[in-house]
Amino acid sequence: MVMVDLHCHLLPGVDDGSKSMEISLRMAKEAVENGVTHALLTPHHMNGRYVNHKQDVIHLTKQFAAELEKNNIPLTVFPGQEVRINGNLLKALDNDDILFADTDNRYLMLEFPDDDVPHYTNRMIFDLQQREITPVIVHPERNTMIMDKPEVLYELLQKGCLSQITASSYIGTFGKKVEKFSRQLIEAGQGYVFASDAHDLPGRKYEMRQAFEKLSSEFGNDFSHHYANNARTIINGGDVPLNAVQKLRKKKHFWLF
Ligand SMILES: [Fe+2]
Repeated sequence: MVMVDLHCHLLPGVDDGSKSMEISLRMAKEAVENGVTHALLTPHHMNGRYVNHKQDVIHLTKQFAAELEKNNIPLTVFPGQEVRINGNLLKALDNDDILFADTDNRYLMLEFPDDDVPHYTNRMIFDLQQREITPVIVHPERNTMIMDKPEVLYELLQKGCLSQITASSYIGTFGKKVEKFSRQLIEAGQGYVFASDAHDLPGRKYEMRQAFEKLSSEFGNDFSHHYANNARTIINGGDVPLNAVQKLRKKKHFWLF
């Protein structure tokens, strides 16, 4: 069975993910043990700390693929980027310095700052969509502004963005609050895929198998297959079936009698 991981930091020495080839190979083995067959390698790009140019990522991914083969690790890897929303994104697209999840340049793995959805986001999403790009918003369940105002994500999904929930969030690695919010998003049709976002950090490991098992037990096997299929469709540049997205109920700040 094909299982695609659309977001991981397996490339050695390029960001806050794996620090060495040895660690990368270990993480790749963990991916395989979790059932992952194909991984999009998504080092941070333009997040204020790391820049990983498209051609460098392509080159390093080829090197890593050769190492995987040499070590008999059955993981197929593709070059990607986790792109931080930033004022220079359109320029970077013009300069052909952005990698997509698919080779048709349709799906962009887009990250927001941990605690903000910048004021120019709507305009940027519009500009991306004008270029026939569909942003896949990565880990909205860990963004503190979205946790506080879930309607911000709802509106982005209504505009046609997709979202990626991190497997570890859903199984509780980032705490109860993030776990609960992940489940609420999934329930409201506001999630499309799981990804590992694996780093070589404590609590940032491969937990895809566990997350899919939990998804099956809470939402059924068909739903779990639907998530796995969506990831495969994204990496193949196909049409992801859009969810019927529901608005999350606002928190009540008073008692009703
Ligand atoms: Fe990431």
